[in-house]
Amino acid sequence: MSCIVATIKTALKPLKMQKAIYPGSFDPLHNGHLDVISRAARLCDSVVVAVAANSSKNALLSTAKRIEIIEDATAAIPGVSVTEFDGLLVNFVIEQKADCIIRGLRAISDFEYEFQMALMNRQLQSSVETIFLMPNQEHIYLSSRIIKEIAGTGNDVRDFISEKAAAAIDKKLGFKKT
Ligand code: PNS
Repeated sequence: MSCIVATIKTALKPLKMQKAIYPGSFDPLHNGHLDVISRAARLCDSVVVAVAANSSKNALLSTAKRIEIIEDATAAIPGVSVTEFDGLLVNFVIEQKADCIIRGLRAISDFEYEFQMALMNRQLQSSVETIFLMPNQEHIYLSSRIIKEIAGTGNDVRDFISEKAAAAIDKKLGFKKT
């Protein structure tokens, strides 16, 4: 037993979470994302919210608009910055000299995808650790896809996303709301 502990200790270097990358499509950012960002900011000195630019082909909002929405929503959270990234996430993490990747886990249904992604990222870059954070249960059912679906029917999604995000979606979908 003590032999196993010794092996693990030598294989894994100590990791202090000073800088974390929170990657995603954020199309759009919703309250569940915001909850995860707030939790990550409690754990790490700085959190870089990294908007995947390569997912913008199918995205409703442009990368620039998604960044603008996140910057606005996170302005009051200390240590948070927002940027885009392209290519492999692990390369971006190394480039940023970050310590870990943060991902939100809502339900069992997220697990398989997240598990696969975390292990592939570890295979690609063994020094990069993935940390999963659970949002508050009131946000557990939120997803950007469902929010876009509801907004697409002309219904109000302001309970789930910021005013700025809702306005951007309405504009994109051609809805005008007061
Ligand atoms: O919000 P999403 O869509 O679940 O985020 C997925 C994202 C952007 C984090 C993931 O697709 C990603 O990391 N893309 C970058 C390309 C990459 O590194 N792919 C290999 C990951 S296993």
